[in-house]
Amino acid sequence: MSLVTDIEEQQSAVLARIALSGSTAELEELRIAVLGKKGSLTGLLRGMGQVPPEERALVGRLVNELRDVVEAALGLRHEELASAELEARISAEALDVTLPARARPLGTQHLISRLTEEIVEVFRGIGYRVVSGTEIETDYYNFTALNSPPDHPSRGLQDTFYVVDRSGAVAAITGESDVVLRSQTSGVQVHTMEDSELPIYILAPGRVYRRDVADPTHLPQFTQIEGLVVDRGITFGDLKGTLEYFCQQVFGSERKTRFRPHFFPFTEPSAEVDVSCGICGGVGCRSCGGTGWLEILGCGMVDPNVYGFVGINPELYSGFAFGLGVERIACLKYNVPDLRMLLEGDMRFLRQF
Ligand code: DAH
Repeated sequence: MSLVTDIEEQQSAVLARIALSGSTAELEELRIAVLGKKGSLTGLLRGMGQVPPEERALVGRLVNELRDVVEAALGLRHEELASAELEARISAEALDVTLPARARPLGTQHLISRLTEEIVEVFRGIGYRVVSGTEIETDYYNFTALNSPPDHPSRGLQDTFYVVDRSGAVAAITGESDVVLRSQTSGVQVHTMEDSELPIYILAPGRVYRRDVADPTHLPQFTQIEGLVVDRGITFGDLKGTLEYFCQQVFGSERKTRFRPHFFPFTEPSAEVDVSCGICGGVGCRSCGGTGWLEILGCGMVDPNVYGFVGINPELYSGFAFGLGVERIACLKYNVPDLRMLLEGDMRFLRQF
Protein backbone atom coordinates (compact mmCIF):
# COMPACT_ATOMS: atom_id res chain seq x y z
CA MET A 1 0.00 0.00 0.00
CA SER A 2 3.00 2.34 -0.45
CA LEU A 3 1.16 4.18 -3.20
CA VAL A 4 -1.70 4.99 -0.86
CA THR A 5 0.75 6.27 1.73
CA ASP A 6 2.40 8.26 -0.96
CA ILE A 7 -0.89 9.85 -1.89
CA GLU A 8 -1.73 10.69 1.68
CA GLU A 9 1.69 12.21 2.25
CA GLN A 10 1.37 14.27 -0.87
CA GLN A 11 -1.98 15.51 0.25
CA SER A 12 -0.76 16.79 3.58
CA ALA A 13 2.41 18.24 2.04
CA VAL A 14 0.46 20.08 -0.68
CA LEU A 15 -2.14 21.39 1.77
CA ALA A 16 0.63 22.69 4.04
CA ARG A 17 2.28 24.50 1.15
CA ILE A 18 -1.02 26.02 0.09
CA ALA A 19 -1.61 27.31 3.61
CA LEU A 20 1.89 28.80 3.71
CA SER A 21 1.84 30.47 0.29
CA GLY A 22 2.12 34.24 0.66
CA SER A 23 0.86 35.62 -2.66
CA THR A 24 -1.42 34.75 -5.55
CA ALA A 25 1.67 34.51 -7.74
CA GLU A 26 3.29 31.99 -5.42
CA LEU A 27 0.00 30.09 -5.23
CA GLU A 28 -0.22 29.93 -9.00
CA GLU A 29 3.30 28.44 -9.17
CA LEU A 30 2.22 25.85 -6.67
CA ARG A 31 -0.92 25.06 -8.65
CA ILE A 32 1.15 24.44 -11.76
CA ALA A 33 3.64 22.32 -9.81
CA VAL A 34 0.81 20.10 -8.58
CA LEU A 35 -1.97 20.17 -11.16
CA GLY A 36 -0.07 21.32 -14.23
CA LYS A 37 0.84 19.04 -17.15
CA LYS A 38 4.05 18.05 -15.46
CA GLY A 39 2.61 18.38 -11.96
CA SER A 40 3.08 15.82 -9.19
CA LEU A 41 -0.61 14.86 -9.05
CA THR A 42 -0.79 14.56 -12.79
CA GLY A 43 2.21 12.23 -12.47
CA LEU A 44 0.29 10.07 -10.03
CA LEU A 45 -2.63 9.77 -12.40
CA ARG A 46 -0.30 8.87 -15.23
CA GLY A 47 1.25 6.17 -13.06
CA MET A 48 -2.14 4.45 -12.71
CA GLY A 49 -1.09 2.02 -15.48
CA GLN A 50 1.40 0.42 -13.19
CA VAL A 51 -1.05 -0.06 -10.30
CA PRO A 52 -2.15 -3.69 -9.90
CA PRO A 53 -5.75 -4.12 -11.15
CA GLU A 54 -7.15 -5.04 -7.72
CA GLU A 55 -5.86 -1.75 -6.23
CA ARG A 56 -6.77 0.47 -9.13
CA ALA A 57 -10.26 1.37 -7.89
CA LEU A 58 -9.03 2.43 -4.47
CA VAL A 59 -6.02 4.31 -5.74
CA GLY A 60 -8.11 6.00 -8.44
CA ARG A 61 -10.63 7.16 -5.87
CA LEU A 62 -7.91 8.46 -3.56
CA VAL A 63 -6.19 10.36 -6.34
CA ASN A 64 -9.47 11.92 -7.43
CA GLU A 65 -10.28 12.87 -3.86
CA LEU A 66 -6.82 14.34 -3.52
CA ARG A 67 -7.37 16.45 -6.64
CA ASP A 68 -10.73 17.71 -5.35
CA VAL A 69 -9.27 18.58 -1.96
CA VAL A 70 -6.30 20.35 -3.49
CA GLU A 71 -8.45 22.28 -5.94
CA ALA A 72 -10.81 23.41 -3.18
CA ALA A 73 -7.90 24.46 -0.96
CA LEU A 74 -6.30 26.34 -3.84
CA GLY A 75 -9.56 28.15 -4.52
CA LEU A 76 -10.06 29.21 -0.93
CA ARG A 77 -6.49 30.35 -0.45
CA HIS A 78 -6.65 32.27 -3.73
CA GLU A 79 -9.66 34.17 -2.52
CA GLU A 80 -7.94 35.03 0.74
CA LEU A 81 -4.73 36.15 -0.91
CA ALA A 82 -6.45 38.11 -3.70
CA SER A 83 -8.57 40.10 -1.29
CA ALA A 84 -5.55 40.81 0.94
CA GLU A 85 -3.63 41.99 -2.11
CA LEU A 86 -6.52 44.20 -3.19
CA GLU A 87 -6.70 45.75 0.29
CA ALA A 88 -2.97 46.39 0.23
CA ARG A 89 -3.18 48.04 -3.19
CA ILE A 90 -6.12 50.22 -2.19
CA SER A 91 -4.41 51.47 0.92
CA ALA A 92 -1.13 52.05 -0.95
CA GLU A 93 -2.85 54.08 -3.65
CA ALA A 94 -5.16 55.94 -1.31
CA LEU A 95 -5.35 59.72 -1.66
CA ASP A 96 -4.47 61.67 1.39
CA VAL A 97 -7.40 64.07 1.37
CA THR A 98 -6.00 65.93 4.35
CA LEU A 99 -3.13 67.31 2.23
CA PRO A 100 -3.70 71.00 1.47
CA ALA A 101 -4.68 71.52 -2.18
CA ARG A 102 -2.21 73.05 -4.62
CA ALA A 103 -3.31 76.67 -4.88
CA ARG A 104 -4.30 77.96 -8.31
CA PRO A 105 -3.83 81.70 -8.38
CA LEU A 106 -6.98 83.45 -9.49
CA GLY A 107 -6.51 85.81 -12.43
CA THR A 108 -7.86 89.32 -12.39
CA GLN A 109 -8.72 91.92 -14.94
CA HIS A 110 -5.70 93.77 -16.33
CA LEU A 111 -5.38 97.39 -15.27
CA ILE A 112 -5.88 98.57 -18.86
CA SER A 113 -9.08 96.59 -19.36
CA ARG A 114 -10.42 97.83 -16.05
CA LEU A 115 -9.58 101.44 -16.73
CA THR A 116 -11.06 101.18 -20.24
CA GLU A 117 -14.31 99.94 -18.73
CA GLU A 118 -14.22 102.66 -16.11
CA ILE A 119 -13.86 105.37 -18.76
CA VAL A 120 -16.54 103.78 -20.93
CA GLU A 121 -18.88 103.81 -17.92
CA VAL A 122 -18.30 107.52 -17.36
CA PHE A 123 -19.47 108.27 -20.90
CA ARG A 124 -22.25 105.70 -20.92
CA GLY A 125 -23.60 107.58 -17.93
CA ILE A 126 -24.05 110.68 -20.09
CA GLY A 127 -25.69 108.92 -23.01
CA TYR A 128 -22.84 107.64 -25.20
CA ARG A 129 -22.95 104.21 -26.81
CA VAL A 130 -19.96 102.00 -27.54
CA VAL A 131 -19.01 100.99 -31.08
CA SER A 132 -16.07 98.85 -32.08
CA GLY A 133 -13.86 99.20 -35.08
CA THR A 134 -11.35 96.81 -36.61
CA GLU A 135 -7.63 96.78 -35.96
CA ILE A 136 -6.96 96.15 -39.64
CA GLU A 137 -8.08 99.18 -41.57
CA THR A 138 -7.66 100.74 -44.98
CA ASP A 139 -5.61 103.87 -45.31
CA TYR A 140 -8.77 105.58 -46.57
CA TYR A 141 -10.37 105.33 -43.12
CA ASN A 142 -7.16 105.68 -41.13
CA PHE A 143 -5.93 108.73 -43.06
CA THR A 144 -7.71 110.03 -46.17
CA ALA A 145 -11.22 110.50 -44.84
CA LEU A 146 -9.70 112.02 -41.71
CA ASN A 147 -8.35 114.80 -43.87
CA SER A 148 -4.78 113.46 -43.98
CA PRO A 149 -3.67 113.77 -47.60
CA PRO A 150 -1.65 111.04 -49.32
CA ASP A 151 1.61 112.86 -48.68
CA HIS A 152 1.02 112.94 -44.93
CA PRO A 153 4.23 111.75 -43.18
CA SER A 154 2.40 109.31 -40.88
CA ARG A 155 1.50 107.25 -43.96
CA GLY A 156 5.13 106.38 -44.62
CA LEU A 157 6.09 102.72 -44.56
CA GLN A 158 8.50 103.76 -41.83
CA ASP A 159 5.76 105.18 -39.62
CA THR A 160 2.83 102.84 -40.03
CA PHE A 161 2.48 99.06 -40.15
CA TYR A 162 1.26 98.11 -43.60
CA VAL A 163 -0.35 94.73 -44.14
CA VAL A 164 1.47 92.86 -46.90
CA ASP A 165 0.41 89.88 -48.98
CA ARG A 166 2.51 86.74 -49.48
CA SER A 167 4.68 88.34 -52.12
CA GLY A 168 5.56 91.11 -49.69
CA ALA A 169 3.55 93.71 -51.57
CA VAL A 170 1.30 96.01 -49.56
CA ALA A 171 -2.18 94.50 -49.53
CA ALA A 172 -4.90 96.68 -50.99
CA ILE A 173 -8.67 96.57 -50.99
CA THR A 174 -10.30 96.97 -54.41
CA GLY A 175 -6.84 97.83 -55.70
CA GLU A 176 -7.03 101.31 -54.28
CA SER A 177 -6.80 101.63 -50.55
CA ASP A 178 -3.76 100.12 -48.85
CA VAL A 179 -4.33 98.02 -45.76
CA VAL A 180 -2.71 99.07 -42.50
CA LEU A 181 -2.83 98.23 -38.83
CA ARG A 182 -4.75 101.27 -37.63
CA SER A 183 -2.52 103.87 -36.00
CA GLN A 184 -5.46 105.55 -34.28
CA THR A 185 -9.08 104.77 -33.43
CA SER A 186 -10.18 107.94 -35.25
CA GLY A 187 -11.16 105.90 -38.33
CA VAL A 188 -14.14 104.64 -36.33
CA GLN A 189 -15.48 108.22 -36.54
CA VAL A 190 -15.71 107.90 -40.32
CA HIS A 191 -17.33 104.45 -40.24
CA THR A 192 -19.84 105.63 -37.66
CA MET A 193 -20.78 108.78 -39.58
CA GLU A 194 -21.21 106.67 -42.73
CA ASP A 195 -23.32 104.01 -41.03
CA SER A 196 -25.37 105.69 -38.28
CA GLU A 197 -28.37 107.89 -38.03
CA LEU A 198 -27.79 111.34 -36.55
CA PRO A 199 -27.34 112.44 -33.83
CA ILE A 200 -24.21 110.50 -32.87
CA TYR A 201 -22.82 110.09 -29.37
CA ILE A 202 -20.29 107.27 -29.44
CA LEU A 203 -17.21 105.94 -27.76
CA ALA A 204 -14.83 103.54 -29.54
CA PRO A 205 -12.19 101.79 -27.43
CA GLY A 206 -9.60 99.57 -29.10
CA ARG A 207 -6.05 98.69 -29.88
CA VAL A 208 -3.84 100.75 -32.19
CA TYR A 209 -0.37 100.19 -33.64
CA ARG A 210 2.56 102.48 -34.25
CA ARG A 211 5.99 101.83 -35.59
CA ASP A 212 7.58 102.90 -32.33
CA VAL A 213 10.24 101.12 -30.31
CA ALA A 214 8.99 100.48 -26.77
CA ASP A 215 10.51 102.85 -24.23
CA PRO A 216 9.20 104.44 -21.03
CA THR A 217 6.85 106.73 -22.98
CA HIS A 218 6.15 104.79 -26.22
CA LEU A 219 4.63 101.43 -27.09
CA PRO A 220 4.25 99.89 -30.56
CA GLN A 221 0.79 98.74 -29.56
CA PHE A 222 -1.54 100.45 -27.13
CA THR A 223 -5.16 101.21 -26.35
CA GLN A 224 -7.08 104.27 -27.43
CA ILE A 225 -10.58 105.48 -26.73
CA GLU A 226 -12.14 107.62 -29.40
CA GLY A 227 -15.16 109.81 -28.76
CA LEU A 228 -17.43 111.45 -31.31
CA VAL A 229 -20.47 113.67 -31.02
CA VAL A 230 -22.42 114.98 -34.01
CA ASP A 231 -25.67 116.81 -33.36
CA ARG A 232 -27.37 120.13 -34.03
CA GLY A 233 -25.87 123.11 -32.27
CA ILE A 234 -22.83 121.44 -30.69
CA THR A 235 -20.20 124.01 -29.67
CA PHE A 236 -16.69 124.09 -28.27
CA GLY A 237 -18.36 124.77 -24.91
CA ASP A 238 -19.97 121.33 -25.04
CA LEU A 239 -16.58 119.81 -25.78
CA LYS A 240 -14.96 121.57 -22.82
CA GLY A 241 -17.74 120.74 -20.41
CA THR A 242 -17.77 117.09 -21.43
CA LEU A 243 -14.03 116.60 -21.12
CA GLU A 244 -13.79 118.50 -17.82
CA TYR A 245 -16.49 116.26 -16.43
CA PHE A 246 -14.62 113.20 -17.70
CA CYS A 247 -11.31 114.31 -16.15
CA GLN A 248 -12.87 114.89 -12.78
CA GLN A 249 -14.62 111.53 -12.84
CA VAL A 250 -11.40 109.71 -13.65
CA PHE A 251 -8.78 111.72 -11.78
CA GLY A 252 -10.80 113.24 -8.94
CA SER A 253 -12.61 116.54 -8.49
CA GLU A 254 -9.56 118.35 -7.12
CA ARG A 255 -7.77 118.07 -10.48
CA LYS A 256 -7.86 121.02 -12.88
CA THR A 257 -7.90 120.86 -16.67
CA ARG A 258 -6.60 123.18 -19.34
CA PHE A 259 -7.06 123.29 -23.10
CA ARG A 260 -4.04 124.14 -25.26
CA PRO A 261 -4.41 124.96 -28.95
CA HIS A 262 -2.99 122.18 -31.13
CA PHE A 263 -3.31 120.78 -34.63
CA PHE A 264 -5.04 117.61 -35.77
CA PRO A 265 -5.96 117.14 -39.44
CA PHE A 266 -9.55 116.08 -38.73
CA THR A 267 -10.57 118.72 -36.19
CA GLU A 268 -10.66 122.51 -36.40
CA PRO A 269 -10.05 124.12 -34.00
CA SER A 270 -8.10 121.44 -32.15
CA ALA A 271 -6.70 121.29 -28.65
CA GLU A 272 -4.72 119.13 -26.32
CA VAL A 273 -6.05 118.71 -22.83
CA ASP A 274 -3.80 118.72 -19.79
CA VAL A 275 -4.75 117.73 -16.29
CA SER A 276 -3.00 119.22 -13.26
CA CYS A 277 -0.21 117.03 -11.90
CA GLY A 278 -1.43 114.81 -9.08
CA ILE A 279 2.00 114.46 -7.53
CA CYS A 280 2.86 118.13 -7.00
CA GLY A 281 -0.68 119.47 -7.14
CA GLY A 282 0.21 121.74 -10.06
CA VAL A 283 3.27 123.47 -8.63
CA GLY A 284 5.73 121.66 -10.85
CA CYS A 285 7.84 118.56 -10.18
CA ARG A 286 9.91 115.97 -12.00
CA SER A 287 6.86 113.94 -13.04
CA CYS A 288 5.28 116.83 -14.90
CA GLY A 289 8.56 118.23 -16.20
CA GLY A 290 8.22 121.18 -13.88
CA THR A 291 5.11 122.49 -15.65
CA GLY A 292 2.44 121.35 -13.17
CA TRP A 293 0.46 119.85 -16.09
CA LEU A 294 0.18 116.46 -17.76
CA GLU A 295 -1.12 116.00 -21.30
CA ILE A 296 -3.90 113.44 -21.46
CA LEU A 297 -5.76 113.68 -24.75
CA GLY A 298 -6.37 115.36 -28.10
CA CYS A 299 -9.67 116.83 -29.20
CA GLY A 300 -11.39 119.37 -31.39
CA MET A 301 -14.44 120.32 -33.42
CA VAL A 302 -14.98 117.95 -36.36
CA ASP A 303 -13.44 119.56 -39.47
CA PRO A 304 -16.02 120.33 -42.18
CA ASN A 305 -13.74 118.54 -44.67
CA VAL A 306 -14.41 115.29 -42.78
CA TYR A 307 -18.18 115.88 -43.09
CA GLY A 308 -17.52 116.16 -46.81
CA PHE A 309 -16.25 112.56 -46.94
CA VAL A 310 -19.33 111.17 -45.18
CA GLY A 311 -22.05 113.38 -46.59
CA ILE A 312 -23.11 115.26 -43.46
CA ASN A 313 -24.21 118.85 -43.98
CA PRO A 314 -21.98 121.10 -41.79
CA GLU A 315 -24.55 123.90 -42.10
CA LEU A 316 -27.00 121.76 -40.12
CA TYR A 317 -24.76 119.71 -37.88
CA SER A 318 -21.65 120.24 -35.83
CA GLY A 319 -19.74 118.04 -33.44
CA PHE A 320 -16.59 117.30 -31.56
CA ALA A 321 -14.18 114.43 -31.26
CA PHE A 322 -11.52 113.36 -28.85
CA GLY A 323 -8.99 110.58 -28.54
CA LEU A 324 -7.06 109.39 -25.52
CA GLY A 325 -4.47 106.72 -24.74
CA VAL A 326 -5.57 104.43 -21.92
CA GLU A 327 -2.00 103.35 -21.01
CA ARG A 328 -1.01 106.96 -20.65
CA ILE A 329 -3.97 107.72 -18.43
CA ALA A 330 -3.16 104.65 -16.32
CA CYS A 331 0.40 105.92 -15.82
CA LEU A 332 -0.83 109.36 -14.80
CA LYS A 333 -3.54 108.08 -12.53
CA TYR A 334 -1.41 105.48 -10.73
CA ASN A 335 2.04 107.09 -11.09
CA VAL A 336 3.43 104.24 -13.21
CA PRO A 337 6.90 105.37 -14.32
CA ASP A 338 7.26 103.24 -17.47
CA LEU A 339 4.59 102.32 -20.06
CA ARG A 340 6.30 98.98 -20.72
CA MET A 341 5.32 97.75 -17.25
CA LEU A 342 1.76 97.57 -18.57
CA LEU A 343 2.73 95.00 -21.20
CA GLU A 344 5.16 92.84 -19.29
CA GLY A 345 2.67 90.78 -17.29
CA ASP A 346 4.72 90.92 -14.08
CA MET A 347 2.28 89.78 -11.41
CA ARG A 348 4.06 91.71 -8.64
CA PHE A 349 3.21 94.88 -10.51
CA LEU A 350 -0.25 93.95 -11.78
CA ARG A 351 -1.48 92.63 -8.45
CA GLN A 352 -1.41 96.12 -7.02
CA PHE A 353 -4.41 97.21 -9.04
N1 DAH B 1 -6.12 110.27 -33.19
C1 DAH B 1 -5.28 111.17 -32.41
C2 DAH B 1 -3.96 110.51 -32.10
O1 DAH B 1 -3.88 109.31 -32.19
C3 DAH B 1 -5.95 111.58 -31.14
C4 DAH B 1 -7.11 112.49 -31.39
C5 DAH B 1 -6.94 113.83 -31.41
C6 DAH B 1 -8.36 111.97 -31.62
C7 DAH B 1 -7.99 114.70 -31.65
C8 DAH B 1 -9.43 112.83 -31.84
C9 DAH B 1 -9.22 114.21 -31.87
O2 DAH B 1 -10.66 112.40 -32.07
O3 DAH B 1 -10.28 115.03 -32.07
O4 DAH B 1 -3.03 111.17 -31.80
